[in-house]
Amino acid sequence: MRKDKPSRTAYKVAMNIVTLGAKPGMDKFLPPGIVQATERLLVASGTAETRTVRWARSERMVSVYEAFDWILPGQFEAFAHRKAFCEHHVRDGIRDGAVQILVLGAGYDTMGWRLAPEFADVCFFEIDHPATARFKAEGINAMGQRDNLCLIAEDLGKRSLADVLKADKLWDPSAQTVIVAEGLMMYLLPEAVRELFCQCNAISGSGSRIAFSYIPAGTDGRPDAGRWTGLMLWLQEVSGEPWTSSIRPEELDLFLEESGWVNTAALAGPLRKYGVEFYAAAAKRKRVPAHA
Ligand SMILES: C[S@@+](CC[C@H](N)C(=O)[O-])C[C@H]1O[C@@H](n2cnc3c(N)ncnc32)[C@H](O)[C@@H]1O
Repeated sequence: MRKDKPSRTAYKVAMNIVTLGAKPGMDKFLPPGIVQATERLLVASGTAETRTVRWARSERMVSVYEAFDWILPGQFEAFAHRKAFCEHHVRDGIRDGAVQILVLGAGYDTMGWRLAPEFADVCFFEIDHPATARFKAEGINAMGQRDNLCLIAEDLGKRSLADVLKADKLWDPSAQTVIVAEGLMMYLLPEAVRELFCQCNAISGSGSRIAFSYIPAGTDGRPDAGRWTGLMLWLQEVSGEPWTSSIRPEELDLFLEESGWVNTAALAGPLRKYGVEFYAAAAKRKRVPAHA
């Protein structure tokens, strides 16, 4: 990503959520309150003007997104399913005993802000690149701080997750945690993704889980976005946020095992793919293998 500018892709995800709010039937999938909170955050953070957000939540914009779905079929609605998938894992993890939530590459995601009052005994943490995080922080400030929501501005390409959290007095590495890495992996280098998953293991307690999305790798090893892969890779490249990582779904179990996680029957669910991405969840292994 361009290091000095807020993430364009985070902005696009947020605007997409707002437009999904205008699509009939999507309220069945979208987490409650997400559209309104995202609208507020975009405006309060100075990321978008009120009229832009109003325009985004219109039937015309729904038609525009649908017209562009030919490049990535299903991707417009996929963001609703992705948000619902991650929030399901956070709620389920809390029911299961998690007391810490960590959202990596949070962008303009509003889950922490929305759920913090409902789960007052749970600590919510978000990390994002400073270029985006400072806008988010301004927005959250204006919308109303949450005592149990901690926003951390760090470039995870420069500083390790373990170092970042070690420096945070509120972070408890022995606590049962739900980690969310939504729409993040494809923007990191493959070694960085592996390292991040190993570190997620190291900074969380037993019973923790990680929910994430990833782009599948094609036979040539590149991210596979379907028929228009070449165009998509080029568009991402020129936008300054190239896709640099992907995983073959059949190699996911091995990748997780090597980085200290395991796909359990209870968490895995059916193979989920919406639009261009797969959604997956894994539980922390009891012991990290020696070579990880
Ligand atoms: C596609 S956006 C997804 C945002 C959010 N997870 C969502 O789905 O709404 C990718 C996010 O990853 C963040 N990101 C990318 N590289 C990063 C890095 N090196 N350190 C921290 N955050 C990073 C970007 O700032 C951006 O907010």
